[in-house]
Amino acid sequence: MLISFEGIDGAGKSTQIQKLVTSMTSEGVDVVTLREPGGTPAAEKIRLILLENSHKISPIGELLLFSASRAELVQEVIVPALASGKTVILDRFYDSTTAYQGYGRGINLDLLQSIISISTCAVTPDITFYLDIEPEEALKRKFAKTSIPLEFEGEGLDRMERSGIEFYRKVQQGYREIMRQNSERFVSINALQPTGVIHFQIMESLKARFPV
Ligand SMILES: Nc1ncnc2c1ncn2[C@@H]1O[C@H](COP(=O)(O)OP(=O)(O)OP(=O)(O)O)[C@@H](O)[C@H]1O
Ligand SMILES: [Mg+2]
Repeated sequence: MLISFEGIDGAGKSTQIQKLVTSMTSEGVDVVTLREPGGTPAAEKIRLILLENSHKISPIGELLLFSASRAELVQEVIVPALASGKTVILDRFYDSTTAYQGYGRGINLDLLQSIISISTCAVTPDITFYLDIEPEEALKRKFAKTSIPLEFEGEGLDRMERSGIEFYRKVQQGYREIMRQNSERFVSINALQPTGVIHFQIMESLKARFPV
């Protein structure tokens, strides 16, 4: 089974994946968790190019590098893991590309779809959990984590609001549109709820959709 988690930065994906892995492992499920870019020797090298700050990469160049890394991960890791009966959990997958590069940055959606089809070899998640949160709330979580001195907090938020909030709003709207078009695969969860409640809802959805 292939499970993916989506949502804007700070929505709580990594937190929920950790909880899910703990629950599934204790139930005896063989779980693999993966995060892009990376996961194979070639994909790790591509990751270094993407994370290196000293050079500029164009939006299309970045998209193709991400997609090359994804192609390696799908063929070398995801497909074999699924074939051997493992459950694969992905911290973001191609829906992030559509939401961020497509709806967020404005790259043509048909073009994106072609690149996604090539890089994923048409591998699709069985279920995708979308953690829905307002960009303002997600940013507050990020700020809570970085412990900005109190006197700078307002200034910091303003600066983030100016540069980031509009972008994240487009990404959020994008995710909602993607969900409408793939409603059979998506489960939307209110990410403002306590982590334990969200985890419970995720477990219930999995049991309902994939009874053992
Ligand atoms: N349901 C929740 N309620 C309150 N805080 C939460 C909740 N879930 C996660 N957090 C906190 O919000 C922050 C972001 O969570 P997390 O790292 O899981 O998000 P993420 O979606 O993986 O973000 P990113 O895309 O940046 O990796 C963390 O400090 C985490 O402890
Ligand atoms: Mg994370």
